[in-house]
Amino acid sequence: MENIVINGGRELYGEIEVSGMKNAAVAVILSCLLVKDTCTLENLPNISDVRASFDILESMGAVVKRLSSTTIQVDCTHCRCGTSPYELVRKMRASYYLIGAELGRYHRASVGCPGGCDFGIRPIDQHIKGFEALGATVNVEGGYVEAFAENGMIGNQVYFDGVSVGATMNIIIAAALAKGTTVIENAAREPHIVDLANFLNTCGAEITGAGTDVIKIKGVESLHGCTYAIIPDMIEAGTFMIAAAATGGRLKINNVIPKHLESITAKLEEMGVTVEELDDAVIVSRSGELTSVNIKTMPYPGFPTDMNPQMCALLCLASGTSRLSESVWDTRFRYVEELKRMGANIKVDGKVAVVEGPVTFSAAPVRAVDLRAGAAVIIAGLAAKGRTVIDDIYHIKRGYEDIVGKLSAVGASIKEVHTPDPVPYEKAN
Ligand code: EPU
Repeated sequence: MENIVINGGRELYGEIEVSGMKNAAVAVILSCLLVKDTCTLENLPNISDVRASFDILESMGAVVKRLSSTTIQVDCTHCRCGTSPYELVRKMRASYYLIGAELGRYHRASVGCPGGCDFGIRPIDQHIKGFEALGATVNVEGGYVEAFAENGMIGNQVYFDGVSVGATMNIIIAAALAKGTTVIENAAREPHIVDLANFLNTCGAEITGAGTDVIKIKGVESLHGCTYAIIPDMIEAGTFMIAAAATGGRLKINNVIPKHLESITAKLEEMGVTVEELDDAVIVSRSGELTSVNIKTMPYPGFPTDMNPQMCALLCLASGTSRLSESVWDTRFRYVEELKRMGANIKVDGKVAVVEGPVTFSAAPVRAVDLRAGAAVIIAGLAAKGRTVIDDIYHIKRGYEDIVGKLSAVGASIKEVHTPDPVPYEKAN
């Protein structure tokens, strides 16, 4: 068994480095399938979702070479379609990008249904709507997505019924090598969408409008290799900003794009936290009390849903009543029970959490029920008095590179402990 153990109550001081963005990296890596050449990807986070993405490509015949802890070279020239094992694909949500990449390159796809954090139903109907608009026939059967485009992928107009990060990226990938021009309307505008478009354009694609809600993809004949650096992870940066605010220290958070953090910065300032913006860093400090605020998660540039749990942990420490409304995922609040074990006073009514504060967190055994929920219990543990033990930390490792080492280096008492698995009852007797 692996646990994270925190002895809380210490302020965080010093400098901390943010890694490359998970949700950009996984899309860029899987889109390398479109390129029959070598791509060198820099500023990659060393996390299990990134390793799983390369494992998927390797299982299809890619040649993958690690050049350093953050740089990996991949050559997909000899990849074969539909050969990624189900066990690999179901490890993470982002494996749905393989459907777009296989359709783009082979005009057919056979991919196991994607896994990832459990937020209730996670449909891919908008991805399928887009693939069908581009000429594919798609069937979901027996845990697999099977797709076939008899006449190849053909550019078309795609209007999404709701804003979806994954569907926007998947149709960009599927359309990059299509015949003709694809226009995506009601596209998501997240920075990782711009990053994917920049990567593909560096390989020779013709994508314009990424970062707005109308994206045009003029299909090209082929893509060539390139060297490309992934953008910094705004959610990791935001998590450290909140950790500094929760402990009351002063943290310089390096390798960030401050513009991507604006919605988080604005809410922290409203709560009484000081945020100083530099070119590629932010300095976060807090000396006084935290005050309550109301927050609604929204697609970018709104407050990110992936900061909902971490922010909720901070709201528990603020004086007064805060309302945290979730507008993206149906069951994002599963982490609330874990924070309550640590003394939080939170009532959830549908997609709204009402948080009464301030509370003093008390250490408790808790679970990382998903990736960002794991970050929230780490923040609560850093602020709590006593020893917090976190279970199911594999969720955290999917998305945070060496979070234990990074927080230790700025003064947290946090470590990962490995204990032998409990002996099954029948063997013990
Ligand atoms: N939706 C549909 N149909 C679809 C696709 C989405 O109804 O075909 C709905 C979803 O059910 C949800 C909303 O649209 O209610 C938004 O979903 P979206 O497609 O934007 O999410 P995603 O692409 O599956 C990515 C991130 C998530 C992040 C969301 C929202 C990756 C691999 N995952 O998921 O990240 O929460 O966007 O920003 O990029 C995380 O990193 O912890 C994480 C869960």
